[in-house]
Amino acid sequence: MRDLPNIVILTGAGISAESGLATFRGPEGLWEGHRVEDVATPEAFVRDPELVQRFYDARRARLKEVEPNEAHRALARLDAGWRGDLLIVTQNVDDLHERAGAQRVLHMHGELNSAWCLACDARVRWMEGLSDAPPCPECGTRGALRPDIVWFGEMPYGMDRIDAALREADLFVSIGTSGAVYPAAGYVRTARYVGARTLEMNLDPSQGSLFFDETRLGRAGKLVPAWVEELLAGH
Ligand code: APR
Repeated sequence: MRDLPNIVILTGAGISAESGLATFRGPEGLWEGHRVEDVATPEAFVRDPELVQRFYDARRARLKEVEPNEAHRALARLDAGWRGDLLIVTQNVDDLHERAGAQRVLHMHGELNSAWCLACDARVRWMEGLSDAPPCPECGTRGALRPDIVWFGEMPYGMDRIDAALREADLFVSIGTSGAVYPAAGYVRTARYVGARTLEMNLDPSQGSLFFDETRLGRAGKLVPAWVEELLAGH
């Protein structure tokens, strides 16, 4: 073990639940009233672009109504205070880690506040709606901007960087994710393979629970600040 452990943190929808953002795999198996396959695939976008754009417009607008919670803030404190390597890999497309002040954040599933132009391939910061087919700020094409979200069947962002961080990890921590979606669901096994300690903090045991050295069950808003304090006090 190094003097200061290298830390990789994986976050999922559960860390934003206490901010008021819905998780994906609630008891009813719907995602804010839509089946995931109806909105989060490239096929869905081809079939019904309006539905998909309206759906993501609503989620983007919702971001303006919510605030980071104690768990986001605790991770931001850790990021600021930790002199060793640290990477927060988030599956979330919200901006709550950044708004809490975290800097070492990688959005592997894209971001609501980003749009991708299918005409010129630019990625542009985008805070408003896309349903009314606005022109791309880079190339001027109308109706070519799509949400910069990694849909099912598409390649997540930052795979090389994530892989490199995992290979050097001493501590892998998973927060608020069900472990249902790959490749993120497999990171705990990579981390174990390289000898990292693995810790999960989740409301319920995730699908990969048995791969973790330790599981703490409860709300992220309570568990994460306590863990961050432990860690910062120990170094
Ligand atoms: N604190 C901690 N964990 C919580 C909380 C909370 N307050 N509330 C819910 N959880 C847990 C749930 O028990 C569940 O295991 O968060 C997890 C959320 O799981 P999912 O809804 O499946 O979300 P996530 O794992 O992020 O989904 C992964 O699926 O559709 C895709 O691309 C989408 O990034 C998403 C991916």
